[in-house]
Amino acid sequence: MNPYLFILGRDPLLSRTELQNFCDEILYDERESLLLAENLKFENPRDLPQTKEQIFLDRLGGTIRFAKVIGEFESEKEVFASILQNILDQKPDGKLHLGISSFGWRREPTKALLSKIKNTLREEYDRNCRVVNIDGRTLDSGKIFGDRLLQKGFEFVIWKKHAAGFESKAAQDSNPTFLLAQTVASQNLRNYTLRDRGKDFRDARMGMLPPKLAQILISLSNPDWDDVVIDPFCGSGTVNIEAAIMGYKTIGSDLDATRVRRAQENFEQMAEKFRYEKSHGDFFMIDAEKFPIQKTSGIIATEGFLGDVYEKHATREKIQSESQKILSLWQNLLKNLEDSSLHTLSFCLPAWNFQGKTISLSENLFAKLGQSSYIPSALFNGKRTFIYSRPGSFVGREICVLQKK
Ligand SMILES: C[S@@+](CC[C@H](N)C(=O)[O-])C[C@H]1O[C@@H](n2cnc3c(N)ncnc32)[C@H](O)[C@@H]1O
Repeated sequence: MNPYLFILGRDPLLSRTELQNFCDEILYDERESLLLAENLKFENPRDLPQTKEQIFLDRLGGTIRFAKVIGEFESEKEVFASILQNILDQKPDGKLHLGISSFGWRREPTKALLSKIKNTLREEYDRNCRVVNIDGRTLDSGKIFGDRLLQKGFEFVIWKKHAAGFESKAAQDSNPTFLLAQTVASQNLRNYTLRDRGKDFRDARMGMLPPKLAQILISLSNPDWDDVVIDPFCGSGTVNIEAAIMGYKTIGSDLDATRVRRAQENFEQMAEKFRYEKSHGDFFMIDAEKFPIQKTSGIIATEGFLGDVYEKHATREKIQSESQKILSLWQNLLKNLEDSSLHTLSFCLPAWNFQGKTISLSENLFAKLGQSSYIPSALFNGKRTFIYSRPGSFVGREICVLQKK
């Protein structure tokens, strides 16, 4: 089976970690945010009209698009010949739409290659070709989605591997090679916006968990298809909606009765749009500190409670008192989960950007785990947590994953 090339999102390490459960990594290029992998797990219980590749991509929050590898070539001439052949084989007649994105390669050669393909198609094959990035710039998912490029034609991805900067001596000594791949799935931006902005109930003050991060949290817990996905701090129900879209049954609970009701309403509203069963979600008002033992097999994926300090001018004392509250909340919740059948817990702790320094809670929580049957996983390239934060934001989310021993 051919390998696939993944174009990773804004936080490549997080995207790469998300993919670990779904494929076997061959090569990771940090500089270009690319990951080459094989043995993809395409299985999905939902009967959906999309291709299996698109269904696979639609569950990943951290991958922008991915491409099936066609081959590896030593010269630009061979790349040109292979692209031309692939176009003619796959679309023997009619107008063509084409884009080429290159990584580890400059814009000018890409531009020249695009022109050469366009001219050859016209002059030698009498075919019309609309090139969507005639300037040779790497395409973004907005353009691919907006132009319906994958429906109307092709995007080819070229990765000049040597120039991409592999540090090993062998790589430096070897000639560069061109890995050529054809994009098979790209993020559906309209659906993300619908889920993000289109929910009837949103609470801007408490901050909104982006659907993509909810997907990543679920993936990090690696649920089996018969596992229940639980969010004990469900708020507006983002995790529950993402879980149901992926094909899982889900439970949402929250301390706040109004949020529980509104989460259920959001869940039902999205069920119609994304064609999952309303009955796949159950919602309850429960204090997470008194979370009942779960005997059904499942996982927790949650943003958690990030505290009540959102303003930059918060005092150190306020942050400290919120930290204590959050730590004790998680300690109590973890104590209650001791006898449960939940195998993995992915959650966020607040990480405050206070006076130029990051205040994070994970080390403190991990130190308090003591005899707990949950242990932190060092998933993030050997590190136990990953801070998800945007420039200028005061509260970031520190992602932690605990696994049952
Ligand atoms: C950051 S919000 C979660 C938002 C949610 N991820 C969403 O997408 O809307 C935190 C939630 O935790 C809830 N919460 C705070 N303390 C709680 C507790 N002890 N038990 C259960 N829920 C709690 C709050 O009511 C709030 O809805």
